[in-house]
Amino acid sequence: MIKRTHTCGELRASNIGETISLNGWISKSRDLGGLRFIDLRDRYGKTQIVFNESLNKDALAKVKRLGLEDVIGITGMVVARPDDAKNTNIPTGEIDVEVTELEVYNESDPSPFDINDRNSAGEDHRLKYRYLELRTEELQSNMVMRHKAAIATRNFMNDGGFIEVETPVLMKSTPEGARDFLVPSRIHKGRFYALPQSPQTYKQLLMVSGMDKYFQIVKCFRDEDFRADRQPEFTQIDIEMSFVEQDDVVELGTNLTRYLWKSTLDVDLPESFPVITYYDALEKYGSDKPDTRFRIELNEFASYVERSDFNAFKSVLDADGRVKAVVCPNAESYSRKVIDELTDKMKTYYGAKGLAWMKCKAGVLDGGISKFFPEDVQKNIISDLSVNDGDVIFIIGDKAKVVFNALGALRIELAKRENLIDEKAWAPLWVVDFPLVEWNEDSERWDALHHPFTSPHPEDVEKMDTDPGNIRSLGYDIVMNGYELGGGSIRIHDKDLQAKIFTLLGISDEDADEKFGFLMNAFKYGAPPHGGMAFGLDRIVMLLVGSNQIRDVIAFPKTTSAISLMDNSPSPVDEQQLDDLHLSIIEDSDG
Ligand code: AMO
Repeated sequence: MIKRTHTCGELRASNIGETISLNGWISKSRDLGGLRFIDLRDRYGKTQIVFNESLNKDALAKVKRLGLEDVIGITGMVVARPDDAKNTNIPTGEIDVEVTELEVYNESDPSPFDINDRNSAGEDHRLKYRYLELRTEELQSNMVMRHKAAIATRNFMNDGGFIEVETPVLMKSTPEGARDFLVPSRIHKGRFYALPQSPQTYKQLLMVSGMDKYFQIVKCFRDEDFRADRQPEFTQIDIEMSFVEQDDVVELGTNLTRYLWKSTLDVDLPESFPVITYYDALEKYGSDKPDTRFRIELNEFASYVERSDFNAFKSVLDADGRVKAVVCPNAESYSRKVIDELTDKMKTYYGAKGLAWMKCKAGVLDGGISKFFPEDVQKNIISDLSVNDGDVIFIIGDKAKVVFNALGALRIELAKRENLIDEKAWAPLWVVDFPLVEWNEDSERWDALHHPFTSPHPEDVEKMDTDPGNIRSLGYDIVMNGYELGGGSIRIHDKDLQAKIFTLLGISDEDADEKFGFLMNAFKYGAPPHGGMAFGLDRIVMLLVGSNQIRDVIAFPKTTSAISLMDNSPSPVDEQQLDDLHLSIIEDSDG
Protein backbone atom coordinates (compact mmCIF):
# COMPACT_ATOMS: atom_id res chain seq x y z
CA MET A 1 0.00 0.00 0.00
CA ILE A 2 1.14 3.53 -0.72
CA LYS A 3 1.05 5.25 2.67
CA ARG A 4 -0.51 8.69 2.44
CA THR A 5 1.56 11.70 3.48
CA HIS A 6 -1.42 14.07 3.23
CA THR A 7 -5.21 13.93 3.08
CA CYS A 8 -7.15 14.95 -0.01
CA GLY A 9 -8.17 18.23 1.63
CA GLU A 10 -4.76 19.37 2.71
CA LEU A 11 -2.49 20.42 -0.13
CA ARG A 12 -2.00 24.14 -0.85
CA ALA A 13 0.23 26.34 -3.01
CA SER A 14 2.83 26.16 -0.23
CA ASN A 15 3.27 22.44 -1.02
CA ILE A 16 4.26 23.07 -4.66
CA GLY A 17 7.41 21.14 -5.53
CA GLU A 18 6.89 18.45 -2.85
CA THR A 19 6.56 14.78 -3.59
CA ILE A 20 3.54 13.49 -1.72
CA SER A 21 1.23 10.48 -1.50
CA LEU A 22 -2.55 10.39 -1.30
CA ASN A 23 -5.19 7.68 -0.77
CA GLY A 24 -8.83 8.03 -1.72
CA TRP A 25 -11.82 7.37 -3.95
CA ILE A 26 -12.17 8.48 -7.57
CA SER A 27 -14.86 11.10 -7.53
CA LYS A 28 -14.62 12.49 -11.04
CA SER A 29 -12.59 11.63 -14.11
CA ARG A 30 -11.95 13.50 -17.36
CA ASP A 31 -9.77 12.70 -20.38
CA LEU A 32 -8.12 15.64 -22.12
CA GLY A 33 -5.97 14.44 -24.99
CA GLY A 34 -3.05 12.61 -23.44
CA LEU A 35 -3.95 13.80 -19.94
CA ARG A 36 -6.33 12.24 -17.45
CA PHE A 37 -7.64 14.45 -14.64
CA ILE A 38 -9.12 12.75 -11.60
CA ASP A 39 -10.68 14.22 -8.47
CA LEU A 40 -9.48 12.10 -5.59
CA ARG A 41 -11.77 12.27 -2.57
CA ASP A 42 -11.58 11.40 1.10
CA ARG A 43 -13.34 12.69 4.23
CA TYR A 44 -11.21 15.81 4.23
CA GLY A 45 -11.78 17.05 0.68
CA LYS A 46 -10.84 16.58 -2.96
CA THR A 47 -7.57 16.97 -4.80
CA GLN A 48 -7.16 17.01 -8.57
CA ILE A 49 -4.55 14.52 -9.68
CA VAL A 50 -3.17 14.32 -13.24
CA PHE A 51 -1.89 11.31 -15.15
CA ASN A 52 0.20 12.07 -18.22
CA GLU A 53 1.92 10.00 -20.86
CA SER A 54 5.29 10.05 -19.11
CA LEU A 55 4.05 7.16 -16.91
CA ASN A 56 5.32 3.71 -17.77
CA LYS A 57 3.24 1.38 -19.94
CA ASP A 58 1.96 -0.75 -17.08
CA ALA A 59 0.79 2.24 -15.16
CA LEU A 60 -0.87 3.75 -18.22
CA ALA A 61 -2.81 0.52 -18.76
CA LYS A 62 -4.01 0.70 -15.15
CA VAL A 63 -5.02 4.33 -15.56
CA LYS A 64 -7.14 3.42 -18.56
CA ARG A 65 -9.17 1.01 -16.46
CA LEU A 66 -9.80 3.41 -13.57
CA GLY A 67 -13.49 4.07 -12.86
CA LEU A 68 -15.54 6.15 -10.47
CA GLU A 69 -15.39 5.10 -6.79
CA ASP A 70 -12.29 2.94 -7.32
CA VAL A 71 -10.02 3.19 -4.28
CA ILE A 72 -6.43 4.06 -5.16
CA GLY A 73 -3.15 5.31 -3.76
CA ILE A 74 -0.84 7.63 -5.66
CA THR A 75 2.53 9.29 -5.30
CA GLY A 76 3.31 12.42 -7.25
CA MET A 77 4.58 15.96 -7.40
CA VAL A 78 2.50 18.96 -6.31
CA VAL A 79 2.41 21.49 -9.18
CA ALA A 80 0.77 24.87 -9.66
CA ARG A 81 -2.36 24.92 -11.78
CA PRO A 82 -2.31 27.25 -14.75
CA ASP A 83 -4.01 30.53 -13.75
CA ASP A 84 -7.08 29.87 -15.89
CA ALA A 85 -7.55 26.44 -14.24
CA LYS A 86 -7.41 27.65 -10.63
CA ASN A 87 -10.56 26.92 -8.63
CA THR A 88 -11.13 29.35 -5.77
CA ASN A 89 -14.18 27.41 -4.57
CA ILE A 90 -12.18 24.58 -3.04
CA PRO A 91 -9.20 24.85 -0.67
CA THR A 92 -7.01 22.63 -2.87
CA GLY A 93 -7.98 24.52 -6.03
CA GLU A 94 -4.58 26.13 -6.64
CA ILE A 95 -2.65 22.90 -7.18
CA ASP A 96 -2.62 19.61 -9.06
CA VAL A 97 -0.65 16.48 -8.28
CA GLU A 98 1.25 14.97 -11.22
CA VAL A 99 1.17 11.25 -10.57
CA THR A 100 4.34 9.19 -10.79
CA GLU A 101 3.10 6.01 -9.06
CA LEU A 102 -0.34 4.39 -8.89
CA GLU A 103 -1.71 1.51 -6.86
CA VAL A 104 -5.30 0.32 -7.26
CA TYR A 105 -6.66 -1.14 -4.02
CA ASN A 106 -10.22 -1.87 -5.02
CA GLU A 107 -12.13 -1.49 -8.27
CA SER A 108 -15.70 -0.39 -7.72
CA ASP A 109 -18.74 -1.74 -9.49
CA PRO A 110 -20.75 1.05 -11.11
CA SER A 111 -22.15 3.09 -8.19
CA PRO A 112 -25.93 2.66 -7.67
CA PHE A 113 -26.22 6.45 -7.57
CA ASP A 114 -24.07 9.52 -8.12
CA ILE A 115 -22.12 10.15 -4.93
CA ASN A 116 -21.56 13.76 -6.03
CA ASP A 117 -25.29 14.39 -6.17
CA ARG A 118 -27.22 13.02 -3.23
CA ASN A 119 -30.49 13.90 -4.90
CA SER A 120 -29.74 11.76 -7.93
CA ALA A 121 -31.65 8.89 -6.31
CA GLY A 122 -34.80 8.45 -4.21
CA GLU A 123 -34.40 8.10 -0.45
CA ASP A 124 -35.28 4.39 -0.28
CA HIS A 125 -32.58 3.61 -2.84
CA ARG A 126 -30.03 5.69 -0.94
CA LEU A 127 -30.97 4.04 2.37
CA LYS A 128 -30.39 0.62 0.82
CA TYR A 129 -26.84 1.75 0.01
CA ARG A 130 -26.47 3.91 3.10
CA TYR A 131 -22.71 3.23 3.32
CA LEU A 132 -22.41 4.92 -0.08
CA GLU A 133 -24.73 7.77 0.84
CA LEU A 134 -22.46 8.33 3.84
CA ARG A 135 -19.70 9.08 1.34
CA THR A 136 -21.57 12.19 0.18
CA GLU A 137 -20.21 15.54 1.28
CA GLU A 138 -23.46 16.43 3.06
CA LEU A 139 -23.64 13.31 5.22
CA GLN A 140 -19.92 13.34 5.94
CA SER A 141 -20.20 16.87 7.25
CA ASN A 142 -23.36 15.93 9.23
CA MET A 143 -21.48 13.10 10.93
CA VAL A 144 -18.62 15.44 11.76
CA MET A 145 -21.13 17.90 13.26
CA ARG A 146 -22.67 15.10 15.34
CA HIS A 147 -19.23 14.16 16.61
CA LYS A 148 -18.46 17.80 17.48
CA ALA A 149 -21.74 18.16 19.36
CA ALA A 150 -21.08 14.98 21.36
CA ILE A 151 -17.52 16.02 22.21
CA ALA A 152 -18.65 19.54 23.16
CA THR A 153 -21.33 18.04 25.41
CA ARG A 154 -18.81 15.81 27.17
CA ASN A 155 -16.42 18.72 27.64
CA PHE A 156 -19.14 20.99 29.00
CA MET A 157 -20.55 18.39 31.38
CA ASN A 158 -17.10 17.32 32.55
CA ASP A 159 -16.14 20.94 33.24
CA GLY A 160 -19.36 21.29 35.26
CA GLY A 161 -18.42 18.35 37.50
CA PHE A 162 -20.77 15.80 35.93
CA ILE A 163 -19.70 12.19 35.56
CA GLU A 164 -20.84 9.91 32.75
CA VAL A 165 -22.30 6.67 34.09
CA GLU A 166 -23.53 3.91 31.79
CA THR A 167 -26.86 2.31 32.60
CA PRO A 168 -28.24 -1.04 31.41
CA VAL A 169 -29.70 -1.60 27.97
CA LEU A 170 -31.52 -4.72 29.12
CA MET A 171 -33.83 -3.50 31.82
CA LYS A 172 -37.26 -3.45 33.29
CA SER A 173 -39.77 -1.45 31.31
CA THR A 174 -39.83 2.32 32.10
CA PRO A 175 -42.99 4.39 32.21
CA GLU A 176 -42.14 6.99 29.54
CA GLY A 177 -45.44 6.61 27.78
CA ALA A 178 -44.45 4.95 24.50
CA ARG A 179 -44.51 1.24 23.76
CA ASP A 180 -41.43 -0.76 24.80
CA PHE A 181 -39.20 -2.84 22.57
CA LEU A 182 -39.05 -6.17 24.37
CA VAL A 183 -36.25 -8.74 24.49
CA PRO A 184 -37.32 -12.29 25.39
CA SER A 185 -35.24 -14.11 27.96
CA ARG A 186 -33.86 -17.51 26.95
CA ILE A 187 -32.98 -18.51 30.47
CA HIS A 188 -36.19 -17.33 32.09
CA LYS A 189 -39.05 -18.69 30.07
CA GLY A 190 -41.88 -16.21 29.51
CA ARG A 191 -39.91 -13.25 30.86
CA PHE A 192 -38.78 -10.20 28.97
CA TYR A 193 -36.34 -7.39 29.28
CA ALA A 194 -37.31 -4.02 27.87
CA LEU A 195 -34.94 -1.74 25.98
CA PRO A 196 -34.82 1.62 27.80
CA GLN A 197 -37.20 4.31 26.59
CA SER A 198 -34.83 6.42 28.69
CA PRO A 199 -32.60 5.73 31.70
CA GLN A 200 -35.13 7.59 33.88
CA THR A 201 -35.31 5.19 36.81
CA TYR A 202 -31.58 4.45 36.79
CA LYS A 203 -30.59 8.07 36.88
CA GLN A 204 -32.86 8.68 39.84
CA LEU A 205 -31.32 5.67 41.58
CA LEU A 206 -27.88 7.15 40.88
CA MET A 207 -28.96 10.21 42.84
CA VAL A 208 -29.89 7.97 45.78
CA SER A 209 -26.40 6.47 45.33
CA GLY A 210 -24.88 9.91 45.89
CA MET A 211 -23.50 10.41 42.36
CA ASP A 212 -24.72 14.01 42.64
CA LYS A 213 -24.24 15.07 39.00
CA TYR A 214 -24.80 12.44 36.32
CA PHE A 215 -24.91 12.60 32.58
CA GLN A 216 -24.84 10.09 29.77
CA ILE A 217 -24.97 10.20 25.99
CA VAL A 218 -27.24 7.23 25.64
CA LYS A 219 -29.29 5.27 23.14
CA CYS A 220 -33.02 5.13 23.89
CA PHE A 221 -35.68 2.98 22.22
CA ARG A 222 -39.36 3.71 21.74
CA ASP A 223 -41.90 1.87 19.65
CA GLU A 224 -44.15 4.75 18.60
CA ASP A 225 -45.40 6.44 15.44
CA PHE A 226 -42.39 7.72 13.58
CA ARG A 227 -42.10 11.12 11.95
CA ALA A 228 -39.46 13.35 10.44
CA ASP A 229 -38.09 14.13 13.92
CA ARG A 230 -38.58 10.71 15.55
CA GLN A 231 -36.73 7.41 15.24
CA PRO A 232 -37.29 4.11 17.05
CA GLU A 233 -33.77 4.33 18.42
CA PHE A 234 -32.39 7.75 19.15
CA THR A 235 -29.81 9.34 21.41
CA GLN A 236 -30.34 11.43 24.50
CA ILE A 237 -28.02 13.68 26.43
CA ASP A 238 -29.40 12.50 29.76
CA ILE A 239 -28.80 14.60 32.87
CA GLU A 240 -29.69 14.32 36.57
CA MET A 241 -28.62 16.48 39.51
CA SER A 242 -29.10 16.38 43.28
CA PHE A 243 -30.07 19.27 45.56
CA VAL A 244 -31.44 21.39 42.73
CA GLU A 245 -34.59 23.29 41.93
CA GLN A 246 -36.20 23.98 38.56
CA ASP A 247 -34.19 27.17 37.97
CA ASP A 248 -30.91 25.28 38.40
CA VAL A 249 -31.77 22.71 35.73
CA VAL A 250 -33.11 25.43 33.41
CA GLU A 251 -29.85 27.35 33.84
CA LEU A 252 -27.75 24.27 33.13
CA GLY A 253 -29.84 23.37 30.06
CA THR A 254 -29.58 26.94 28.78
CA ASN A 255 -25.82 27.00 29.24
CA LEU A 256 -25.31 23.62 27.56
CA THR A 257 -27.39 24.80 24.59
CA ARG A 258 -25.43 28.06 24.36
CA TYR A 259 -22.16 26.16 24.57
CA LEU A 260 -23.18 23.74 21.82
CA TRP A 261 -24.28 26.51 19.45
CA LYS A 262 -21.14 28.51 20.16
CA SER A 263 -18.67 25.67 19.81
CA THR A 264 -20.18 24.16 16.66
CA LEU A 265 -21.61 27.17 14.77
CA ASP A 266 -19.94 30.09 16.53
CA VAL A 267 -23.43 31.44 17.21
CA ASP A 268 -24.06 33.47 20.38
CA LEU A 269 -27.47 32.58 21.80
CA PRO A 270 -28.90 34.96 24.43
CA GLU A 271 -27.68 34.56 28.02
CA SER A 272 -31.10 33.47 29.14
CA PHE A 273 -33.96 32.10 27.05
CA PRO A 274 -37.57 33.34 27.20
CA VAL A 275 -39.75 31.31 29.58
CA ILE A 276 -43.40 30.78 28.70
CA THR A 277 -46.05 28.81 30.56
CA TYR A 278 -47.71 25.84 28.92
CA TYR A 279 -51.01 27.71 29.16
CA ASP A 280 -49.67 30.81 27.39
CA ALA A 281 -47.89 28.71 24.77
CA LEU A 282 -51.18 27.08 23.79
CA GLU A 283 -53.19 30.30 23.93
CA LYS A 284 -50.65 32.29 21.90
CA TYR A 285 -49.20 29.70 19.55
CA GLY A 286 -51.55 26.70 19.77
CA SER A 287 -48.57 24.49 20.60
CA ASP A 288 -46.39 23.51 23.55
CA LYS A 289 -43.38 23.69 21.22
CA PRO A 290 -43.96 27.01 19.51
CA ASP A 291 -41.85 28.34 16.67
CA THR A 292 -41.41 31.97 17.68
CA ARG A 293 -39.30 33.06 14.70
CA PHE A 294 -42.34 34.85 13.22
CA ARG A 295 -45.09 36.95 14.72
CA ILE A 296 -48.41 35.38 13.73
CA GLU A 297 -50.23 34.59 17.01
CA LEU A 298 -53.59 33.17 18.02
CA ASN A 299 -56.13 35.82 19.08
CA GLU A 300 -59.16 35.35 21.30
CA PHE A 301 -62.29 35.77 19.18
CA ALA A 302 -65.12 34.82 21.57
CA SER A 303 -66.18 38.36 22.45
CA TYR A 304 -66.68 39.29 18.77
CA VAL A 305 -68.62 36.09 18.13
CA GLU A 306 -70.96 36.95 20.99
CA ARG A 307 -71.72 40.28 19.32
CA SER A 308 -72.22 38.69 15.88
CA ASP A 309 -74.98 36.73 14.14
CA PHE A 310 -72.72 33.81 13.36
CA ASN A 311 -74.60 31.02 15.07
CA ALA A 312 -72.23 28.18 14.29
CA PHE A 313 -69.55 29.76 16.49
CA LYS A 314 -72.09 30.85 19.09
CA SER A 315 -73.10 27.26 19.63
CA VAL A 316 -69.42 26.28 19.92
CA LEU A 317 -69.11 28.78 22.78
CA ASP A 318 -72.34 27.51 24.35
CA ALA A 319 -70.81 24.03 24.37
CA ASP A 320 -67.73 25.33 26.24
CA GLY A 321 -65.65 25.32 23.07
CA ARG A 322 -63.26 28.03 21.95
CA VAL A 323 -63.07 30.42 19.00
CA LYS A 324 -59.70 31.86 18.05
CA ALA A 325 -58.25 33.62 15.03
CA VAL A 326 -54.95 34.26 13.28
CA VAL A 327 -54.22 37.21 11.05
CA CYS A 328 -52.20 36.52 7.93
CA PRO A 329 -50.45 39.61 6.60
CA ASN A 330 -50.49 40.65 2.94
CA ALA A 331 -52.74 37.79 1.91
CA GLU A 332 -54.95 39.93 -0.32
CA SER A 333 -54.33 37.68 -3.27
CA TYR A 334 -55.46 34.51 -1.46
CA SER A 335 -57.92 33.07 -3.95
CA ARG A 336 -60.86 30.86 -3.15
CA LYS A 337 -58.67 27.94 -4.30
CA VAL A 338 -55.90 28.70 -1.78
CA ILE A 339 -58.41 29.14 1.03
CA ASP A 340 -60.09 25.85 0.06
CA GLU A 341 -56.71 24.10 0.17
CA LEU A 342 -56.00 25.48 3.63
CA THR A 343 -59.50 24.48 4.78
CA ASP A 344 -58.98 20.93 3.52
CA LYS A 345 -55.71 20.68 5.43
CA MET A 346 -57.34 21.88 8.64
CA LYS A 347 -60.14 19.36 8.22
CA THR A 348 -58.06 16.37 7.15
CA TYR A 349 -55.12 16.64 9.51
CA TYR A 350 -56.43 18.53 12.52
CA GLY A 351 -60.09 17.54 12.76
CA ALA A 352 -61.42 21.09 12.28
CA LYS A 353 -64.95 21.34 10.96
CA GLY A 354 -64.02 24.23 8.72
CA LEU A 355 -61.91 27.34 8.36
CA ALA A 356 -63.78 30.65 8.48
CA TRP A 357 -62.19 33.77 7.02
CA MET A 358 -62.63 37.49 6.32
CA LYS A 359 -60.43 39.84 4.32
CA CYS A 360 -59.64 43.42 5.22
CA LYS A 361 -60.25 45.80 2.31
CA ALA A 362 -60.22 49.60 2.50
CA GLY A 363 -60.59 49.55 6.27
CA VAL A 364 -63.58 47.17 6.40
CA LEU A 365 -63.96 43.40 6.59
CA ASP A 366 -65.08 41.71 3.43
CA GLY A 367 -66.03 38.24 2.16
CA GLY A 368 -66.19 34.97 4.08
CA ILE A 369 -68.19 35.33 7.29
CA SER A 370 -67.79 39.13 7.50
CA LYS A 371 -71.49 39.78 6.82
CA PHE A 372 -72.38 38.25 10.20
CA PHE A 373 -70.32 40.87 12.05
CA PRO A 374 -71.88 44.33 12.51
CA GLU A 375 -69.80 47.33 11.53
CA ASP A 376 -68.83 48.37 15.06
CA VAL A 377 -67.67 44.81 15.84
CA GLN A 378 -65.65 44.79 12.63
CA LYS A 379 -64.01 48.06 13.69
CA ASN A 380 -63.10 46.53 17.06
CA ILE A 381 -61.66 43.44 15.41
CA ILE A 382 -59.57 45.54 13.03
CA SER A 383 -58.13 47.68 15.77
CA ASP A 384 -57.75 45.01 18.52
CA LEU A 385 -56.05 42.50 16.21
CA SER A 386 -54.06 45.20 14.34
CA VAL A 387 -55.51 44.10 11.01
CA ASN A 388 -54.26 45.97 7.94
CA ASP A 389 -55.66 46.29 4.47
CA GLY A 390 -54.76 43.14 2.56
CA ASP A 391 -54.67 40.90 5.65
CA VAL A 392 -56.87 37.82 5.96
CA ILE A 393 -58.31 36.73 9.31
CA PHE A 394 -58.71 32.95 9.67
CA ILE A 395 -61.02 31.74 12.44
CA ILE A 396 -61.69 28.31 13.92
CA GLY A 397 -64.29 27.43 16.56
CA ASP A 398 -64.25 23.97 18.15
CA LYS A 399 -63.15 22.06 21.22
CA ALA A 400 -60.08 23.78 22.68
CA LYS A 401 -57.75 20.96 21.58
CA VAL A 402 -58.88 21.15 17.94
CA VAL A 403 -58.65 24.96 17.88
CA PHE A 404 -55.09 24.92 19.27
CA ASN A 405 -53.90 22.10 17.01
CA ALA A 406 -55.42 23.50 13.85
CA LEU A 407 -54.52 27.16 14.32
CA GLY A 408 -51.08 26.20 15.68
CA ALA A 409 -50.45 24.36 12.41
CA LEU A 410 -52.08 27.08 10.29
CA ARG A 411 -49.80 29.82 11.65
CA ILE A 412 -46.79 27.77 10.58
CA GLU A 413 -48.31 26.97 7.19
CA LEU A 414 -49.05 30.67 6.59
CA ALA A 415 -45.59 31.72 7.72
CA LYS A 416 -44.03 29.24 5.28
CA ARG A 417 -46.27 30.37 2.40
CA GLU A 418 -45.54 34.01 3.09
CA ASN A 419 -41.81 33.48 3.70
CA LEU A 420 -42.08 35.00 7.16
CA ILE A 421 -39.57 32.64 8.77
CA ASP A 422 -36.03 33.94 9.03
CA GLU A 423 -34.15 30.70 8.34
CA LYS A 424 -31.01 32.07 9.98
CA ALA A 425 -32.75 32.95 13.25
CA TRP A 426 -32.58 30.87 16.44
CA ALA A 427 -35.56 31.04 18.76
CA PRO A 428 -34.90 29.03 21.93
CA LEU A 429 -37.38 29.09 24.81
CA TRP A 430 -38.47 27.16 27.87
CA VAL A 431 -42.02 25.99 28.41
CA VAL A 432 -42.90 25.59 32.11
CA ASP A 433 -45.90 24.91 34.34
CA PHE A 434 -47.15 21.91 32.40
CA PRO A 435 -50.24 20.28 33.86
CA LEU A 436 -49.23 17.33 36.05
CA VAL A 437 -51.93 15.08 34.60
CA GLU A 438 -54.35 15.00 31.70
CA TRP A 439 -57.67 13.22 31.43
CA ASN A 440 -57.60 10.15 29.24
CA GLU A 441 -61.08 9.96 27.72
CA ASP A 442 -60.65 6.40 26.44
CA SER A 443 -59.57 4.79 29.68
CA GLU A 444 -61.37 7.36 31.86
CA ARG A 445 -58.48 8.11 34.15
CA TRP A 446 -55.74 10.65 34.75
CA ASP A 447 -52.46 10.07 32.89
CA ALA A 448 -49.13 11.66 33.83
CA LEU A 449 -48.26 14.26 31.21
CA HIS A 450 -44.54 13.64 31.73
CA HIS A 451 -43.90 10.57 33.89
CA PRO A 452 -45.23 9.53 37.30
CA PHE A 453 -42.10 10.72 39.17
CA THR A 454 -42.59 14.36 38.20
CA SER A 455 -43.14 16.59 41.19
CA PRO A 456 -46.35 18.61 41.44
CA HIS A 457 -45.92 22.35 41.90
CA PRO A 458 -45.76 22.82 45.70
CA GLU A 459 -48.48 25.51 45.52
CA ASP A 460 -50.89 23.09 43.83
CA VAL A 461 -50.48 19.96 45.94
CA GLU A 462 -53.69 20.76 47.82
CA LYS A 463 -55.67 20.38 44.55
CA MET A 464 -54.81 16.67 44.48
CA ASP A 465 -58.20 15.56 45.78
CA THR A 466 -60.36 18.39 44.44
CA ASP A 467 -59.02 19.62 41.12
CA PRO A 468 -56.26 17.37 39.73
CA GLY A 469 -56.61 18.74 36.19
CA ASN A 470 -55.35 22.11 37.39
CA ILE A 471 -52.25 20.92 39.23
CA ARG A 472 -49.13 22.32 37.59
CA SER A 473 -46.00 20.19 37.57
CA LEU A 474 -42.37 21.11 38.03
CA GLY A 475 -41.79 19.91 34.49
CA TYR A 476 -40.14 21.91 31.71
CA ASP A 477 -39.31 21.57 28.03
CA ILE A 478 -36.71 23.37 25.99
CA VAL A 479 -37.83 24.32 22.50
CA MET A 480 -35.84 25.60 19.51
CA ASN A 481 -37.46 26.87 16.30
CA GLY A 482 -40.58 24.81 16.92
CA TYR A 483 -38.80 21.57 17.89
CA GLU A 484 -38.87 20.06 21.35
CA LEU A 485 -35.14 19.75 22.02
CA GLY A 486 -35.44 18.35 25.51
CA GLY A 487 -37.50 18.06 28.63
CA GLY A 488 -37.30 17.16 32.27
CA SER A 489 -38.61 17.79 35.73
CA ILE A 490 -37.95 18.07 39.41
CA ARG A 491 -38.75 14.63 40.82
CA ILE A 492 -40.72 13.47 43.77
CA HIS A 493 -38.30 12.28 46.45
CA ASP A 494 -40.90 11.70 49.15
CA LYS A 495 -42.47 8.25 49.13
CA ASP A 496 -45.76 9.38 50.66
CA LEU A 497 -46.28 12.01 47.97
CA GLN A 498 -45.27 9.43 45.35
CA ALA A 499 -47.86 7.01 46.71
CA LYS A 500 -50.52 9.74 46.45
CA ILE A 501 -49.61 10.38 42.82
CA PHE A 502 -49.84 6.67 42.02
CA THR A 503 -53.32 6.66 43.55
CA LEU A 504 -54.28 9.70 41.45
CA LEU A 505 -53.02 7.92 38.32
CA GLY A 506 -55.09 4.86 39.21
CA ILE A 507 -51.99 2.73 39.76
CA SER A 508 -52.78 0.19 42.47
CA ASP A 509 -50.38 -0.50 45.36
CA GLU A 510 -49.62 -3.93 43.87
CA ASP A 511 -48.97 -2.48 40.41
CA ALA A 512 -46.80 0.30 41.82
CA ASP A 513 -44.87 -2.27 43.79
CA GLU A 514 -44.42 -4.59 40.81
CA LYS A 515 -43.44 -1.81 38.40
CA PHE A 516 -41.51 0.67 40.53
CA GLY A 517 -41.00 -1.14 43.84
CA PHE A 518 -37.22 -1.03 43.42
CA LEU A 519 -37.30 2.76 43.05
CA MET A 520 -39.75 3.30 45.90
CA ASN A 521 -37.65 1.05 48.10
CA ALA A 522 -34.55 3.06 47.27
CA PHE A 523 -36.34 6.21 48.36
CA LYS A 524 -36.60 4.72 51.85
CA TYR A 525 -32.83 4.94 52.27
CA GLY A 526 -32.06 8.62 51.94
CA ALA A 527 -33.20 10.13 48.64
CA PRO A 528 -31.87 13.63 47.98
CA PRO A 529 -34.12 16.22 46.33
CA HIS A 530 -33.24 15.84 42.66
CA GLY A 531 -34.21 16.75 39.12
CA GLY A 532 -32.91 16.64 35.60
CA MET A 533 -33.67 16.58 31.95
CA ALA A 534 -32.81 14.92 28.67
CA PHE A 535 -31.98 16.52 25.33
CA GLY A 536 -32.56 14.75 22.04
CA LEU A 537 -29.03 14.73 20.55
CA ASP A 538 -30.31 13.81 17.09
CA ARG A 539 -32.69 16.77 17.07
CA ILE A 540 -29.94 19.14 18.24
CA VAL A 541 -27.63 18.01 15.44
CA MET A 542 -30.49 18.14 12.93
CA LEU A 543 -30.93 21.83 13.75
CA LEU A 544 -27.20 22.52 13.82
CA VAL A 545 -26.80 21.18 10.25
CA GLY A 546 -29.92 23.03 9.06
CA SER A 547 -31.97 19.94 8.24
CA ASN A 548 -35.58 19.09 9.09
CA GLN A 549 -35.05 15.35 8.80
CA ILE A 550 -33.57 13.43 11.73
CA ARG A 551 -32.41 10.64 9.37
CA ASP A 552 -29.85 13.09 7.94
CA VAL A 553 -27.84 13.02 11.16
CA ILE A 554 -28.01 9.31 12.05
CA ALA A 555 -25.44 7.08 10.36
CA PHE A 556 -27.76 4.11 9.87
CA PRO A 557 -31.35 5.23 10.41
CA LYS A 558 -34.65 3.39 10.02
CA THR A 559 -37.46 4.42 7.69
CA THR A 560 -40.69 5.90 9.09
CA SER A 561 -42.04 2.36 9.16
CA ALA A 562 -39.10 1.35 11.39
CA ILE A 563 -37.31 -0.72 8.74
CA SER A 564 -33.61 -0.71 7.95
CA LEU A 565 -33.57 -0.94 4.16
CA MET A 566 -29.85 -1.73 4.18
CA ASP A 567 -29.86 -4.93 6.23
CA ASN A 568 -33.59 -5.60 6.01
CA SER A 569 -34.24 -5.64 9.73
CA PRO A 570 -36.54 -6.54 11.33
CA SER A 571 -36.22 -9.94 9.71
CA PRO A 572 -37.50 -13.45 10.41
CA VAL A 573 -35.37 -15.73 12.60
CA ASP A 574 -34.78 -19.50 12.61
CA GLU A 575 -37.28 -21.85 14.26
CA GLN A 576 -34.43 -22.93 16.53
CA GLN A 577 -33.91 -19.37 17.77
CA LEU A 578 -37.61 -19.06 18.47
CA ASP A 579 -37.61 -22.39 20.31
CA ASP A 580 -34.66 -21.31 22.43
CA LEU A 581 -36.63 -18.22 23.42
CA HIS A 582 -39.82 -20.20 24.06
CA LEU A 583 -41.63 -18.20 21.38
CA SER A 584 -43.86 -19.14 18.51
CA ILE A 585 -45.30 -16.92 15.80
CA ILE A 586 -49.06 -16.85 15.43
CA GLU A 587 -49.83 -16.81 11.69
CA ASP A 588 -52.49 -14.39 10.47
CA SER A 589 -55.71 -16.18 9.55
CA ASP A 590 -55.08 -15.23 5.90
CA GLY A 591 -51.77 -17.10 6.08
P1 AMO B 1 -38.59 12.93 26.88
O1 AMO B 1 -39.48 11.78 26.66
O2 AMO B 1 -39.18 14.30 26.78
O3 AMO B 1 -37.96 12.88 28.34
O4 AMO B 1 -37.35 12.83 25.90
C1 AMO B 1 -36.33 13.79 25.91
C2 AMO B 1 -35.98 14.24 24.51
O5 AMO B 1 -35.61 13.14 23.69
C3 AMO B 1 -35.96 13.42 22.33
N1 AMO B 1 -36.81 12.32 21.82
C4 AMO B 1 -36.68 11.75 20.61
N2 AMO B 1 -35.83 12.01 19.60
C5 AMO B 1 -35.92 11.24 18.49
N3 AMO B 1 -36.80 10.23 18.34
C6 AMO B 1 -37.67 9.91 19.33
N4 AMO B 1 -38.51 8.89 19.18
C7 AMO B 1 -37.64 10.71 20.53
N5 AMO B 1 -38.34 10.70 21.70
C8 AMO B 1 -37.82 11.68 22.46
C9 AMO B 1 -36.70 14.73 22.31
C10 AMO B 1 -37.14 14.87 23.75
O6 AMO B 1 -37.31 16.22 24.13
N6 AMO B 1 -36.60 10.69 30.91
C11 AMO B 1 -37.16 11.94 30.40
C12 AMO B 1 -36.27 13.11 30.69
C13 AMO B 1 -36.29 13.55 32.12
O7 AMO B 1 -37.36 13.67 32.73
O8 AMO B 1 -35.18 13.83 32.65
C14 AMO B 1 -37.36 11.80 28.89
O9 AMO B 1 -36.95 10.85 28.27
O10 AMO B 1 -35.79 15.75 21.96
